[in-house]
Amino acid sequence: MSERAIRFGLIGFGAWGQHHASSIVKTDGAELVAIAARTETSRAAAKQIHPQAEVLSDYRKLLALEDVDCVDVVVPSHLHHEIGLAVLDAGKHLLLEKPMGISVAECNDLVQRATDKDRLLAVGHELRLSSLWGRVKELIDEGFVGEPQYVLVELSRNPYRLGSDGWRYDISRVGNWILEEPIHFFDLARWYLSNAGDPVSVYASANSRQPNHPELQDNFSAIVNFPGNRYAVVTQTLSAFEHHLTVKVTGTKGALWAAWSGAKDRTRHPTFALQTFDGEEVRTIEITKITGELFELEDQMAMLVQAIRAGKPLSCTAEDGRWSVAMCLAAQESVDTGAVAKIGA
Ligand SMILES: NC(=O)c1ccc[n+]([C@@H]2O[C@H](COP(=O)([O-])OP(=O)(O)OC[C@H]3O[C@@H](n4cnc5c(N)ncnc54)[C@H](OP(=O)(O)O)[C@@H]3O)[C@@H](O)[C@H]2O)c1
Repeated sequence: MSERAIRFGLIGFGAWGQHHASSIVKTDGAELVAIAARTETSRAAAKQIHPQAEVLSDYRKLLALEDVDCVDVVVPSHLHHEIGLAVLDAGKHLLLEKPMGISVAECNDLVQRATDKDRLLAVGHELRLSSLWGRVKELIDEGFVGEPQYVLVELSRNPYRLGSDGWRYDISRVGNWILEEPIHFFDLARWYLSNAGDPVSVYASANSRQPNHPELQDNFSAIVNFPGNRYAVVTQTLSAFEHHLTVKVTGTKGALWAAWSGAKDRTRHPTFALQTFDGEEVRTIEITKITGELFELEDQMAMLVQAIRAGKPLSCTAEDGRWSVAMCLAAQESVDTGAVAKIGA
């Protein structure tokens, strides 16, 4: 007899929520049974694209559905804490988009509640599932570079989308802009340097093209210090074009250089490459599986189905999500004070 599908509810049907919905539908062993969306417009879109799903106006009604096993939360970041806790209180597993919360206290609440309710809490740092960024991690873990000493994660792209009601340009709802995109790169840096131990401190700078809105940082750069005098550079500009992400890792024995480019972040037709240097020879590593956030989103759903069904490990745990938030908040503190900030999760 075939195993019963994991039944997903989705809260939020905006730009990224729509991609979540399509990814759930495409995933073997997953079923999209309900969608909660705020406005009539987004509910109408949800009904049209996913007629099999029950479409609700209030997320609490979705949480009351007994046949929902797992709830996927893709709403503006200031709502992650409230809605995430409600999901766990309803006894459902939770896939929560990044940032896990907009303060460390919010993240702590979520970690504690997931433990108390014995539910899975996965955080949407999907880059960890990439065939490219994941291969970098494998090479580091295999010892290819020796001891990794330096990690650079660098993005140049076009400006952020406004988001529904302009929430992404409102600091009270977005938290800060480091929590928006650089958070993924802090997550990668900590993942790549995991053998060094937890990050200790950060120094960061940022500036804006809008003189009246210095908080909307078009350019942001941070140096994150890890134990053993290792460090990562996370840097991003939103004043550029298209979407170009680069990772460089150097260690005591070798170096890696990975790059991904697309006309947009959500392209299904990117170019990407990985080169290695062992101290003598530069080689190109073939990556056969296409990579990009839309593909990783699908892999994230498959990973979650396996975690719920078979107890397989999550690619990004609540603890990882909390560290990512902690690094971003410390970086913002450093931007504000001009001093090195301690990182504490
Ligand atoms: N992991 C990644 O790579 C990635 C990529 C993009 C975004 N994200 C994260 O995903 C989240 C959503 O981003 P987005 O780009 O999808 O934003 P968006 O396009 O503005 O969509 C947000 C959606 O949330 C809905 N919403 C707001 N309050 C709600 C409520 N109480 N109940 C149900 N729905 C509610 C909005 O409804 P209306 O449309 O009806 O107003 C909107 O559809 C953010 O936290 C963002 O940081 C992650």
